[in-house]
Amino acid sequence: MAQVIVVTSGKGGVGKTTSSAAFATGLAQRGKKTCVIDFDVGLRNLDLIMGVERRVVFDIVNVIQGEAKLNQALIKDKRVEGLSILPASQTRDKDALTKEGVQAIIEELSKEYDYILCDSPAGIEKGALLALYFADQAIVVTNPEVSSVRDSDRILGVLQSKSKRAEEKKEPVKQHLLLTRYDPVRVAREEMLKLEDVLEILAIPLLGVIPESETVLKASNAGNPVILDAESPAGQAYADAVARFLGEERPHRFLEPPKKKGFFEKLFGGKAA
Ligand SMILES: Nc1ncnc2c1ncn2[C@@H]1O[C@H](COP(=O)(O)OP(=O)(O)O)[C@@H](O)[C@H]1O
Ligand SMILES: [Mg+2]
Repeated sequence: MAQVIVVTSGKGGVGKTTSSAAFATGLAQRGKKTCVIDFDVGLRNLDLIMGVERRVVFDIVNVIQGEAKLNQALIKDKRVEGLSILPASQTRDKDALTKEGVQAIIEELSKEYDYILCDSPAGIEKGALLALYFADQAIVVTNPEVSSVRDSDRILGVLQSKSKRAEEKKEPVKQHLLLTRYDPVRVAREEMLKLEDVLEILAIPLLGVIPESETVLKASNAGNPVILDAESPAGQAYADAVARFLGEERPHRFLEPPKKKGFFEKLFGGKAA
């Protein structure tokens, strides 16, 4: 049986799709068979960030409406083995997704995959509720700002009341905090919330802190999940988060502003004694 993970936030534009792409790729890199599903019907972003937009023939709505078989709609990643993408449709209305349809897809994928990642749309409306309904675990993507933390707090309440696990009074959805777009320089200037403040408000375990990094946009534009860029701080932070998710202990990095180089370092390029 696969574990179903929803990547959710409440707020839009915080980095859910970026994180879904990176996390799914990272899990597959670690040998876990992973399928990532785009639930953002209407926007269709995941296939772009994964660089497979030209290979989309059928989508999740076609599968739910019986116009295509699931394996006709699944796109196998060409870079990482064991990674598939189920794209969303761009044109149809959001009501095209049904609980029964999503359940059938998840049950079929469960036979073959270790992890099913659900990239949620923003908000707490139907699409977002469907994305989280079948979840065993939730990655709550939050930015270090008040409005994002407030929306994440709201989504934590929804996970605890509206998920299938909640309805069936089973063990609750396991929650993980992924703090993204963290800019230690702006945190130091008190323009953004510090990690400790966010942790205190949301009070769920920390999976990782992803630094604000211009490599993210470059990677998205190139259709390469940023985790494939091993030089990028954001890519490294995602790799750490995946490792922690799989039970490894890794210290958190990128929490402090980069140290300014001293006079001798600037002069000689290396580390001053
Ligand atoms: N760590 C990061 N550093 C810089 N930009 C980021 C980072 N994470 C996400 N972004 C940018 O933020 C925007 C929204 O990201 P996206 O993943 O589409 O969010 P969502 O799916 O939550 O709407 C995109 O332009 C993306 O490139
Ligand atoms: Mg998105």
